Amino acid sequence: MSTHMDPVHAMRPGVLQLNNLPPLSLYVHLPWCLKKCPYCDFNSHEFRAGVDPVSTQDAYIQALLADLEASLPLIWGRSIQTVFLGGGTPSLFSPEAIDRLISGIRARVRLAPDAEVTLEANPGTFEKDRFKAFRQAGVTRLSIGVQSFDNTHLKALGRVHDRDQAVAAVTEAAQVFDTFNLDLMYALPGQTLDRLTQDIQTALAFAPPHISIYHLTIEPNTVFAKFPPSLPEDDLAYEMMDRITELTSAQGLARYEVSAYAKPGHACAHNLNYWQFGDYLGIGAGAHSKLSFAHRVLRPVRYREPALYMQQALKGEPVTQSHEVSRQELPFEFMLNALRLRDGFALADYVDRTGLALTSIQQGLLEGEQKGLLNRDLHRVWPTEKGFDFLSDLQALFLSDAGLS
Ligand SMILES: C[S@@+](CC[C@H](N)C(=O)[O-])C[C@H]1O[C@@H](n2cnc3c(N)ncnc32)[C@H](O)[C@@H]1O
Ligand code: SF4
Repeated sequence: MSTHMDPVHAMRPGVLQLNNLPPLSLYVHLPWCLKKCPYCDFNSHEFRAGVDPVSTQDAYIQALLADLEASLPLIWGRSIQTVFLGGGTPSLFSPEAIDRLISGIRARVRLAPDAEVTLEANPGTFEKDRFKAFRQAGVTRLSIGVQSFDNTHLKALGRVHDRDQAVAAVTEAAQVFDTFNLDLMYALPGQTLDRLTQDIQTALAFAPPHISIYHLTIEPNTVFAKFPPSLPEDDLAYEMMDRITELTSAQGLARYEVSAYAKPGHACAHNLNYWQFGDYLGIGAGAHSKLSFAHRVLRPVRYREPALYMQQALKGEPVTQSHEVSRQELPFEFMLNALRLRDGFALADYVDRTGLALTSIQQGLLEGEQKGLLNRDLHRVWPTEKGFDFLSDLQALFLSDAGLS
């Protein structure tokens, strides 16, 4: 066994003192798409000609379950609160395959009785009744990659679906699931404030319990990085953000995280656990994990290339590298997540989840308060309106290792 999968190695003495382990989530990466989008830098691959998707998905699920089994010693005795099947395009997998995957997970780990199980679905990859079959397989929440309802924008984004397919997918999801999410992007090539408004209004007409809205970013090593489209200026993008906040709050959707809006009771439990610096085991090609032990926090990463990952997973060696987060890195890593939340974090959770004393963030908290970027009381810390607008400045206050000796 490599040290990456060795629980004894993970539990050896170290400088941190974590008295309580945080909640644990499971992320499962399904890395295939019909077509690679020009803006996307996720670990997603087009099915190549000559590859049989059905036998590939069966083999991949076998590999995932072997990966999970090899990982069990690292999460021994802990139950799983949420599951997220992400991609790629998980809805390319058949409902039978998803059923085998979820049953396989349930057979190997203890899932909390009310566990949220999300699946990412793309419009244009489903026939009617497919969503119902996903629900019967144990999916409780669907996250639909709509991006836009505007055909001009969808085309510019290189998406395989059009407006009608997006409408059909959302209509079906609303009928089948009690809770679902729409992924949208804004500041798109050629987008005006009017078109953005129409797009958001179309989305809100479905009364979605949750939406995620991302500012389109040009990521290195994508087609858009090589051939940059012309994008709205920063001022216009800020106006768009204001318009989005206005329209969503009028519909009772609260912005509880930088990019996430939810009706009461519909926040995404899985993502909340990430932002609250909870633990997650990520299985599948290129998946990242964050796992806590009594004296350290580890960040294992799995082999990225699907064929190599599958080979390694079947051997029980899916992890290519595992980084131990240092004392100096922990305050900033915690803040990168927790300050994205409107409600911020509990001071007790900071101590529990980093294994550090509060003195490690005293300086940053003080400066944040003086600059009007954060508020606090005896128990909690949360960003102000200004802190939310200048989030990276606020987070950067915790970059220094002030307070750590
Ligand atoms: C992990 S992706 C996969 C979801 C699904 N495959 C899809 O694209 O419909 C999750 C979301 O990230 C967002 N996203 C991906 N690339 C982005 C980029 N370059 N800038 C902003 N948002 C992006 C999209 O809204 C996407 O739905
Ligand atoms: S469908 Fe989603 S994951 Fe696949 S290439 Fe497009 S943005 Fe990336």
